[in-house]
Amino acid sequence: MVGMAKVGHFDAISKRYDAATRLLMMGTHDRVRDAVVDSVPHVESALDLCCGTGYLTAHIAADEVVGLDVSTGMLSVNEGKNGDSENVNLVRGDAFNLPFPDDGFDAVFCSLASHEFPSFDAVMDEAKRVSRSGAEVAIYDIYSSPHRFDKPFVTFLRYVVEGGRFYVHDEEGWRSLLQDAGFRDVSLRELYWVSALVRAKA
Ligand SMILES: C[S@@+](CC[C@H](N)C(=O)[O-])C[C@H]1O[C@@H](n2cnc3c(N)ncnc32)[C@H](O)[C@@H]1O
Repeated sequence: MVGMAKVGHFDAISKRYDAATRLLMMGTHDRVRDAVVDSVPHVESALDLCCGTGYLTAHIAADEVVGLDVSTGMLSVNEGKNGDSENVNLVRGDAFNLPFPDDGFDAVFCSLASHEFPSFDAVMDEAKRVSRSGAEVAIYDIYSSPHRFDKPFVTFLRYVVEGGRFYVHDEEGWRSLLQDAGFRDVSLRELYWVSALVRAKA
């Protein structure tokens, strides 16, 4: 699991998280979310992995969306926004040990969370386990882009926002990470220079 200090951190910042993220995304917040959720057609059951306060959760097109997060603070903000949505279920749990059976989900989403994990490969192994054959994967996060001009912004995020613990991948890194977990048809679409939408199929 991500260090307990980090879980406490998300509990502590949960009420400020949405405003801070909107600020850091510099006007791209809603457009990025739409691009991520629109990249997957309507499915029966979707998992919003590390759902936090619900940036994606209720926007995902699915008969049932399960949002999983380890932080009760983040989940309670999500619950405040989406608790009345009939198709949303929020679950406290650990991304390294998902409390779901094999082959259950038709889609797995994960936004702005992969950079928290020094070993995101283990999280992707779990994502693969709970995905049905052919399930859609959509991951959004800051990535290690080929552009030089975005390095100051990424350095700011790494040291000022994330306290030095910030794990990003380049396009090749994403490809091998997902292929090693057993996903196929991996593609990466850059969004606003510093971030990427990574898509794959189980
Ligand atoms: C930066 S937030 C992103 C939240 C949301 N997906 C978004 O796009 O705004 C990262 C989230 O990952 C969650 N997280 C970190 N480690 C986790 C773990 N081991 N299992 C489940 N969730 C975890 C944190 O609690 C936090 O809500």
